[in-house]
This record gives sequence, structure tokens and C-alpha cells, in this order.
Amino acid sequence: MTATIGIDGNSADYPVRQGSVGPEVIDIRKLYGNTGRFTFDPGFTSTAACESKITYIDGDQGILLHRGYPIEQLAEKSSFLEVAYLLLNGELPNAKEHDEFKYLITRHTMVHEQLATFYRGFRRDAHPMAIMCGVVGALSAFYHDSTDIHDPMQREIACHRLIAKMPTIAAMAYKYSVGQPFLYPDNSLSYTGNFLRMTFGVPAEPYVINPVVEDALDKIFILHADHEQNASTSTVRLAGSSGANPFACIAAGIACLWGPAHGGANEAALEMLRQIGRPERIPEFIARAKNKDDPFRLMGFGHRVYKNYDPRAKVLGEAATKVLDTLGISDPVLDTARELERIALSDDYFIEKKLYPNVDFYSGIILSAIGFPTSMFTALFALARTTGWIAQWTEMMGDSEQKIGRPRQLYTGHPRRDYVPLAQRG
Ligand code: ACO
Repeated sequence: MTATIGIDGNSADYPVRQGSVGPEVIDIRKLYGNTGRFTFDPGFTSTAACESKITYIDGDQGILLHRGYPIEQLAEKSSFLEVAYLLLNGELPNAKEHDEFKYLITRHTMVHEQLATFYRGFRRDAHPMAIMCGVVGALSAFYHDSTDIHDPMQREIACHRLIAKMPTIAAMAYKYSVGQPFLYPDNSLSYTGNFLRMTFGVPAEPYVINPVVEDALDKIFILHADHEQNASTSTVRLAGSSGANPFACIAAGIACLWGPAHGGANEAALEMLRQIGRPERIPEFIARAKNKDDPFRLMGFGHRVYKNYDPRAKVLGEAATKVLDTLGISDPVLDTARELERIALSDDYFIEKKLYPNVDFYSGIILSAIGFPTSMFTALFALARTTGWIAQWTEMMGDSEQKIGRPRQLYTGHPRRDYVPLAQRG
């Protein structure tokens, strides 16, 4: 099938490519050569920047598939490490492959001892994401033996190192902020259990893992593992397209994720819910969200792709109740969230604009109940999303059509003009 595009009476046919599911895609790579025109698509709302086999989203139906498997099934039945294997390798592991992968990841959980001195260079009140950007970027200075992107073995080791070390790096960022000693990983624990211990344990006493908390956090990690070509993933791909090493690319992804319109939204959502404080104040905030003259938005609501309920928000809404019940926490914020969701979903403004709760709406409530400060929320997102980033980066490195990413622009600045010496300028 082809699509005909005509400009100035000249038309040409362009191939239309069909994915396994989802909309067809018009291949316009020859458009500039044929017409001397670019397309204009800031925010990439109509542009597929790559071909991928990893994740599929149907935003209208509220469907999210990783390698074909629905996110609800993965969140309920799988573990984060299993999902990491799936994203990286394309298939769920069998028992032997699972054990081998677990062994490989576990053997890379420690960080170079010298890296600990990096932390001491930061202020104690530094945001964990500021520390993560710096420390993850610095990994390439420590692991030279896995920065040759043309060597598949080195690429694989870099992937394993990143997945394995992110919990250690994130937990160290937390420990540093509270002035407690860093804890070395305990490889007898699960990926998520180990992270909980490194974060909340102290050397003076044993740390007992609450299985409900471990399970909820593992779910949060699964739900954040990948989300196709979102802003941070596209950042990782763009950085990687120049041949930058994987540690540098992931640091770029972390920087992008930090923004409140992306990963920073879970922090912003909980802060908003706390600011609302009690259900009676909800109408006031709904009115502000609808007011065009007020920059306030309902954080944790709306999504570029989902124009239906974000399936991840559904899983987390249920997990929030379970965790708070288990921990015996009665947090008015959860009541406020449920009521806000109910009121917003019956309000014409939100219905017309198809604004539904997204993954960030409930995750903050769970993370806060577990004991994480809000400043750690995005760091946890980065920990989990590293898996998706590195899977997408690996896929890109194996793509024979891969080119350096180089968007064009619609230039609206001054046309050519001559330099005027300083003394002659009015
Ligand atoms: N509250 C109130 N109004 C909203 C909201 C919101 N949360 N989100 C979108 N709108 C309105 C916009 O004002 C706009 O109205 P208009 O058409 O009258 O101008 C319309 O809905 C479309 O919004 P856009 O910003 O154009 O949609 P876009 O796809 O660019 O933005 C985004 C998506 C950034 C997520 C947006 O919904 C938002 O800012 N949400 C709050 C932040 C948030 O929760 N981010 C997390 C996203 S999920 C993630 O990154 C993991």
C-alpha cells in the first residue's frame, strides 16, 4: 500500500508500513528529497521515530503490552526481574534462563568502592535525581570494559550492570540524604527485597522484609519498566544514536525523566493531594484545573497516549488499598485521591478531554506508605525504567537502519544580514 502526497501539482507515492498491531505508518523518508519540504511535528504527536518490537500501547483502549503480554498479567503473575528479561530478550525466560539471569544480575549489584566518594561531594540536601544523573553518568568512568558499543558482549554486560546497580545507586542516594551509612547489597534477597534493605536497613540490626511491601514495590517496578517511545526513552535513543556509551545514555534518560510533566509527576501528584488535604476542598482544585488562566493542572491526570484509563493506574489503585491496610495506615490522602478520581471522571471537562488517572496518581501514596520521601519517587521510577531504556537502546544498536537522530526545524528567525560593529549600533 502507498500514500500519495502532492505538492505544487507534483505528487509522489510513499510506502505505507503496517505494524503487527496499531495504526499504519507512512514512510516519508524520501519526502524532503522529492519535495524539498520537511514535515512539522513538534512533540512528535504524529511521528514514529523508530521501529520497535518491545512495547505496544493502545491509548484509546487503555492497553499496554510488553512483547505481547498485557501489563495486568505481568503485574499480577510475574516479577520485575522476569519482566526485565522479557524486555531485553523478547521472550519470558524458562526456569534455567531465569536462574541464570538472576545470578548474572545479582553478581553485579555492588558498585566500585571509589564511587561512594562521589556521593560525599554532594550536599546532603541534594535531590536524589541530581545525584542519580551525576553518579550514573560517572559509571562510564568506572566500567571502561563495557563501553565499546560495537562489541555485543560488552553491550550485554553494560545492560546487566545498569539493571543490577540502579537499586544500589538509588539506595545510596537515599542513605546519603539521611546521613546513614551505605549498606552493601545482600545477594541472598530478591531484587526488590535487596533494594528495600539497602534503603531502610541499618548495619546495627537485621532488616525484616514485609512481603506485602516487597510485592507492592515489585509491582511498581514492573509497571514502570517500559512505556515505548516516551520522552526519556526517546532521549536515551537520541543520545545513543550518536554512538554514546550506554551509561551516558541512561544518565541522559534520567535527566529527562526528572521533569514534572514526566517522571516528576508522581512527586507532584502526592504533593497536590496533600495540598488538597481533605475531600471537601476538591471542587476548589477541580475549578482551578479547568481555569485556563491558572497554570494549575491535576497532577497524575492526563496522558499524551492514554485517552482512557491508564491500565497501570488500575493496578496501583488496588495495590494502594492493600499496602495501607497491611501497614495499618489510615491516610486521608487515599480517600482524597479516590474522591478526586470520582469527581473528575464525572466532570464534563475531564470527560471531553479524555483525562484519566495515570500511573503517577496512586504510586506516590504507596511509596509514601512504605516510607519513601517524595524526593525519592522519581529516583525509583528511574530505577525501574532503566530496564526499558536499556532494552530500547539494545534494540536500536541492533537495527541496521539506525541513523544518528537529527530532527529538522521550521526556521522563523532573521534571514542573513551583515555584522554591524559595536560603535555603529544604535
Ligand atoms: N489537568 C487539567 N487539564 C489538563 C490536564 C490536567 N492534568 N492534562 C491535560 N489537560 C488539558 C490541557 O489544558 C489541554 O486543554 P486545551 O485543549 O483546552 O488546551 C488538553 O487537556 C490537552 O492537554 P495537552 O497538554 O495538550 O496534552 P499533552 O498530551 O501534551 O499532555 C500531559 C499530556 C503532559 C501528561 C498532561 O496531561 C499533563 O500535564 N498532566 C499532568 C502531569 C502528569 O500527570 N504527568 C504524568 C504523565 S505519565 C508519565 O510521565 C509517567
